[in-house]
Amino acid sequence: MSTTVTATKTSSAETLQTFTIKPTPLWQPLPIEGDIPAPYTTNSGLEVVPLHPTFACELRGVDWSKSISQEAYDEIRQIADQYGVVACRNTGLTDEAHIEFSRNFGDLDDVRPYIDAGRKHRLAYPELFDAGNIDPETGNAAPLSAAQVIGNKANEQFHVDSSFNARRAGHSLLLAHVIPPKGMGGATEFADSRTAYDDLSEEMKQELETLVTNHSLFHSRKKAVPDYFKDTDPSKLPLSKHRLIQDHEWSSRKNLYIASYVYSIDGMDTVQGTGLINDLIEHVSKPKYRTTIPWEQNGDMIIWDNTSVLHRATGGTYEGKYPRDMRRTTVKDMSSYKFGLNDPSNEWRVGLP
Ligand code: OGA
Ligand code: MN
Repeated sequence: MSTTVTATKTSSAETLQTFTIKPTPLWQPLPIEGDIPAPYTTNSGLEVVPLHPTFACELRGVDWSKSISQEAYDEIRQIADQYGVVACRNTGLTDEAHIEFSRNFGDLDDVRPYIDAGRKHRLAYPELFDAGNIDPETGNAAPLSAAQVIGNKANEQFHVDSSFNARRAGHSLLLAHVIPPKGMGGATEFADSRTAYDDLSEEMKQELETLVTNHSLFHSRKKAVPDYFKDTDPSKLPLSKHRLIQDHEWSSRKNLYIASYVYSIDGMDTVQGTGLINDLIEHVSKPKYRTTIPWEQNGDMIIWDNTSVLHRATGGTYEGKYPRDMRRTTVKDMSSYKFGLNDPSNEWRVGLP
């Protein structure tokens, strides 16, 4: 069963008409701390270029012009399991090839909950999430007053995709169709939540081990743009329950499953829960766990595993002015933990206009 839950207009019409956001100042990537491992070539001839001491790589040598064989997928998947983030340059993938390749990772999610909430879908397939700033009416960069642009501000907070649905996301594959002019921003930043877990004290690990968190799309939106979402009350909307500390089945490591969507922690009052959530977000946001990956040309694709890394958009001076056309397939989690503590017989999803 699949049901959709939506919250529509959240403030008075007057507020919505006059509301605009400001472009985020140009993001300066943080310097990498420590030594980055040397690039290497796999047995089948793929080149892996690590981008950070503990996670994330660029993968070279895949022939994206052909359908990807099972063997090639298996190798790419092994690299994704290990690195959490895999950047593939200049793939030239079409919408169809992007979707076809993504299906190797598992069941694909789609944008129906957003369409049900009143959003106009500009892309040809419901499996493509629209992560850019293109106005579906004009095809140009949407203005800073557009609901889509205001909502996307929340993506500048570290998050994992779709943890607010009953069944969370596993992998995301984000493909650039149009990138903004050089020097105007639009890079994507990642954080290594497995290593952030490893670095916690034994005492802290024990304290966190059994905690259950409640995830809400509306909480993250409200945190990012409080005035716009001031009438939205996440406690009255669906909350998705997941364990804070997770086994990452694909790497046999543990992961700190924290995100901007985490609204509350079971068994803690608001002050205590919010305090711990903020502390953990601060921990995983330490510069040593982070790396920024710029989009170099149209056709670049970044694959990430939402169950082992966090990510965020960094905005930029292009916002409201230049198009950034980014399309994402989202693979539903295929691990044993996909439903967290939610009822697996009721696969509800949430959406926003
Ligand atoms: C996403 C996302 C970041 C970006 O597509 O899930 O968070 O830089 N994107 O567009
Ligand atoms: Mn995202």
